Amino acid sequence: MTSEKNIIWHKATVTRERRSQQNGHKSVVLWFTGLSGAGKSTLAHAVEEELYQLKFRTFVLDGDNVRHGLCSDLGFEEADRVENIRRIGEIAKLMLEAGTIAMTAFISPFRKDREAVRNLMPHGDFLEIFCKASLEICEKRDAKGLYKRARAGEIKNYTGIDSPYEEPLKPELTVDTEHLSIQESVLQVMELLKERAIINKTD
Ligand code: ADX
Repeated sequence: MTSEKNIIWHKATVTRERRSQQNGHKSVVLWFTGLSGAGKSTLAHAVEEELYQLKFRTFVLDGDNVRHGLCSDLGFEEADRVENIRRIGEIAKLMLEAGTIAMTAFISPFRKDREAVRNLMPHGDFLEIFCKASLEICEKRDAKGLYKRARAGEIKNYTGIDSPYEEPLKPELTVDTEHLSIQESVLQVMELLKERAIINKTD
């Protein structure tokens, strides 16, 4: 482990504020959480598409993709999931500094890890969006066939099967992804962004 004591923070002259000014919008982290198959990635990408059309600077960090690269050394044991979320939290924070609307789509099953990420950011810059869909429906969708394999005992520590998912207690938004269409879900997120003055009421 490197000693942080000997590392001195370098202050940038191009600040988050200046970047926001140039971009024409504030930055924020939209943290999508929920079971596998609840629609986190689908929703995050659909929101990104909408924001892109409005000329916002955006980026989606997606569990399935990040686990091929940055987090390819991590599995699904509790300690690995904690580290996965810690890394993503730090990246999301850098993206916030970089002036983007950063969206993350990770199960992020543990409350305390999500809270730790929230506490990394200035108050109000972390918006937790709970993609709420029952295990029953996620299992029925089973787009990747992983629930079936988990039920068969071929995959261990599968969230919802033999590893817990802790629902958010006070998310900024809960989207009922079990019943709403993607378009309806996107609208709810856009409304949240208007309420928080990230995007204009007229957009
Ligand atoms: S997290 O718990 O650390 O936040 P993350 O979102 O990165 O998980 O990865 C979840 C994705 O990995 C799932 O959508 C699924 O496709 C795949 N996966 C593979 N094994 C597991 C497992 N044991 N539990 C949950 N998801 C798994």
